This record gives sequence, C-alpha cells and structure tokens, in this order.
Amino acid sequence: MTVNPIALVTGAGRGIGRVTAIRLSQAGYRVALTARSRRQLSEVASQCPGETLTVPGDITEPGAVEALFATTERQWGTVTALVLNAGAATSAPVTRITDEDWRHQIGVNLTAPFECLRRAVPGMREVGDGRIVAVASMAAKRGEPYIAAYTAAKHGLLGLVRSAAAELAGTGVTVNAVCPGYVDTPMTEASVATIVAKTGKSTIDARRLLAGKQPIGRLIDPDEVADAIMFCVNSPAVTGQGINIDGGAVQS
Ligand SMILES: NC(=O)c1ccc[n+]([C@@H]2O[C@H](COP(=O)([O-])OP(=O)(O)OC[C@H]3O[C@@H](n4cnc5c(N)ncnc54)[C@H](OP(=O)(O)O)[C@@H]3O)[C@@H](O)[C@H]2O)c1
Repeated sequence: MTVNPIALVTGAGRGIGRVTAIRLSQAGYRVALTARSRRQLSEVASQCPGETLTVPGDITEPGAVEALFATTERQWGTVTALVLNAGAATSAPVTRITDEDWRHQIGVNLTAPFECLRRAVPGMREVGDGRIVAVASMAAKRGEPYIAAYTAAKHGLLGLVRSAAAELAGTGVTVNAVCPGYVDTPMTEASVATIVAKTGKSTIDARRLLAGKQPIGRLIDPDEVADAIMFCVNSPAVTGQGINIDGGAVQS
C-alpha cells in the first residue's frame, strides 16, 4: 500500500491557500490546514477529496508554529510539502506606519514563514525530500507607494527563499516563491474597499484600478497561482526562484 505524502498549507481558509489545499488534496496529499477561522478551515476540508487535518490558530502567536508541526507529525509524520501562504496587507504612507502595524506585517508575512521553514527543514532533510513554496508577491520584487511594511516583509521573504534554496541545494529539498500580482481573493476585496473609502471611487472603478496593475488588464485567478505552486511542488530541478504570476507587471 502506498502512503500518501503530507502537505501543510498556512492560510488555508480562503483565497489562494484554499485553492492550493484543494489542489494538493486532489494530487494525493494528506493536507494539514491552518488559519485562525475554524469555520473556513472546515469548509475547505469538506472540499478536499483526501484526508485532512485542521489546526486552527494564529501563526504569529508564540509557540503556534511548534504546535502546528507537532500536531501534524503526531497525526501523520513528516511534512514534505509546505506552502507558506498566510499573509496580510495594510496600507499607509511610510511616515504613518505604526510600530504595531510594522511588527504585525513583518510577523505574519516574514517571521512566521521563517519559523515554519526552520521547523520543517530537518524532517525534510532526514527523508531527503521536501518542497517549500512561499507565497510572496510582486511586492517582493519592486516597491509601490503606501505598502512599505508589506513590501519590506515580502522582499525579506524572497531573500529567505533564495538563501535557504542555496543552502539546501542537493539535499532533496527545494525552496521557491511565487510572486502574484493582484489576485481575485478576499484580500483584494479588502483593498478595493479601502480604495473606495479613501478616494470615493466606485467599487467597479476601484476593481478596474487594481486590474489595470497587471498589463494583461485583469486580476489574477487564485487557480493560476495554485498552478505555479503545484509546478514548484512537482519540479525537483527548480529551486531558489521567485516566479511572477502578475500578467507581465514585473519582468525579472
Ligand atoms: N490577493 C492578492 O492580490 C495577493 C497578491 C500577492 C500576494 N498575495 C499573498 O498571497 C497570500 C494569500 O493571500 P490571499 O489573497 O489568499 O489572502 P486572504 O484571502 O486574505 O487569505 C489569507 C489567509 O491567511 C490567513 N491568515 C492571515 N493572518 C493569519 C494569522 N495571523 N495566522 C494564521 N492565518 C492567518 C487567513 O485566515 P484567518 O484570517 O482566518 O487567520 C486566510 O486563510 C498572502 O501571503 C498574500 O500576501 C496576495
């Protein structure tokens, strides 16, 4: 009997994480799902054809990453596919970013992925097999106004990916990032609402503004990001990359 490999997806309750968890399950992985919302995790688990484990929690809380991995390992064993997707974005002019917001942006978008990677790598090395995919952003490649904290965190995340990939090359463990433009998810709906509130634009115009950030003239579909994540999961020769899924916005 073949044993299904084990994947862990952070931020699996909605958006990109939701679609990715379902795709991994369809591909034969047992999938551990984490986010704060139990209700959303249960809904995603019900859409997965294979075995799932839901581990609700705030990934920025001290001890949360250790508890997440310990629970998954106790239930199933070593995680060999890790998708570092949980993230959050807020916007403010750089001089008005509060200490609290800076700490939160760095915490959820950079420190938590680092802690997960650090926790996952020894087990992956031991079995000589591991795929780590971080969901970064085109904000990992270039700066834009009003999102300095998010941009700093995502640049840091891509640096972590590149350095870890260089260090782990030849061990069977690959580390990559996907760098989406604006994706049609609840996070982007929140950005649309902020634009409406701050500028008085209509919802349609605010959505059109964000769609226009991609040269292809539309938002990215979460499935298109999941395609790139699955490519990294299925590609032992690809490591250290930051793959743009942004309709041509960033050419590097
Ligand atoms: N949407 C975009 O346009 C876009 C573009 C580029 C990159 N990205 C990146 O893609 C990733 C997913 O984005 P998305 O658009 O799918 O966002 P989303 O729809 O808001 O989903 C984010 C997920 O992360 C979880 N999460 C957030 N904070 C968390 C915390 N402290 N602890 C545990 N889980 C947490 C959320 O669940 P709970 O709130 O229930 O915890 C949710 O499941 C993020 O890293 C984001 O930065 C998004």
